[in-house]
Amino acid sequence: MDNTDTYLLNFKGCYFQRSLVDVDLVEHLDDFEIRDDDVFIITYPKSGTIWTQQILSLIYFEGHRSRSELVNTCDRVPFLECSAQKVDHVNRPSPRLFTSHLPYYLAPKGLKNRKAKIVYVYRNPKDVLTSYFHFSNWLVTFEPSDNIEHFMKRFLDGKVMGSLWFDHIRGWYEHRHDFNILFMMYEEMKKDLRSSVLKISSFLEKELSEEDLDVVVNQATFQNMKLDPQANYDYILEAENWTRTKEGDFLRKGTIGDWKHHLTVEQNERFDRIFQMKMKDFPLKFIWDINEE
Ligand code: PPS
Repeated sequence: MDNTDTYLLNFKGCYFQRSLVDVDLVEHLDDFEIRDDDVFIITYPKSGTIWTQQILSLIYFEGHRSRSELVNTCDRVPFLECSAQKVDHVNRPSPRLFTSHLPYYLAPKGLKNRKAKIVYVYRNPKDVLTSYFHFSNWLVTFEPSDNIEHFMKRFLDGKVMGSLWFDHIRGWYEHRHDFNILFMMYEEMKKDLRSSVLKISSFLEKELSEEDLDVVVNQATFQNMKLDPQANYDYILEAENWTRTKEGDFLRKGTIGDWKHHLTVEQNERFDRIFQMKMKDFPLKFIWDINEE
C-alpha cells in the first residue's frame, strides 16, 4: 500500500478511498472464498451502483418488495472492500449479494470458475464525471475540487477512487470470458427499466411474477428511491456526519446528459479526443444524450 495521499490509497495500481477501504481484505482478495451462488454488482463509481443494489434487493427479498422488512439496500448488498459496514462476509448466509468497484485484475480468483454471477453496470463517462464531481465535493472523505476542470484532470489521470474509468470498463469487458458476467447500461436502464429488470432477473435465474415485476420496477424508479430511506444513503451519510453541507443528495439528478450543463465546449472536445483514443475499437456503445436512440 502506498500511503502518500490524504484521501486515496494505492494498492497494485488501483486507488481506494483511504477511510473506507478494508485494507486487510483487499490484501487477501485472492484468497477470498467465492461460493457458486454468490452474486456481485460491479461498477465504476457513480455508474448506477445503488440503483442496482435496490433492484437486486427487490428481486431477492420478498420483505424488501413488501416493505415489511426495513433493511437498507447497502446492507442487503454490501460492498466487499468497504470497512465502514463491518460485514462478516465469511459467515453470511447464501446467496450472498455483494457490491464492488474492484478492477478485474483484483477480483477474487474464485470468480473465474464462472459459477458466481456478476452484473457489471456502466454509464457514459461524461455523466460519471459530472456525478463524481458533485459527490466528491459533498462528502468529507473525498478530495474536493474548486471546479470541474480540476476534477476532470484528476478523473482523466485516474487519480480517484476506482482509478481510470477507461481501464475499469476495458478490463472487465476484455476479460469477460473469464467470468459469468452480464453488462448493463445505465442509460438503457433509464430508458426501459422494466426490460432491464427482466434482463437482470433472467440472468440471475430469479423469475418474477408479473405482479412482483411491477413492484420491483416501481420501487426502483429514481423518484421512489429518492423518497425511500432504505434505498438511498442520505440519512446514513448525514447521521455519520460524512457530508460537507446539509444540501445535496446521493440521488442527485439521475438523468442522461447532465454533463452538458457542466462541461464547456473546449472541455467536451478534449474529453472526446481522449475518449476516441482510449476507446478505439471498443465494441460497447454509449448513450450521451436523453434523446439518443
Ligand atoms: S456510488 O457512490 O459509486 O455508489 O454511486 P452510484 O450509486 O454508482 O451512482 C450514483 C448515481 O446514480 C444515480 N441513480 C439513479 N439514476 C436513475 N435512476 C435511479 N433509480 C437511480 N438511483 C441512483 C444517482 O442519482 C447518481 O447520479 P447523478 O447523476 O449524480 O444523479
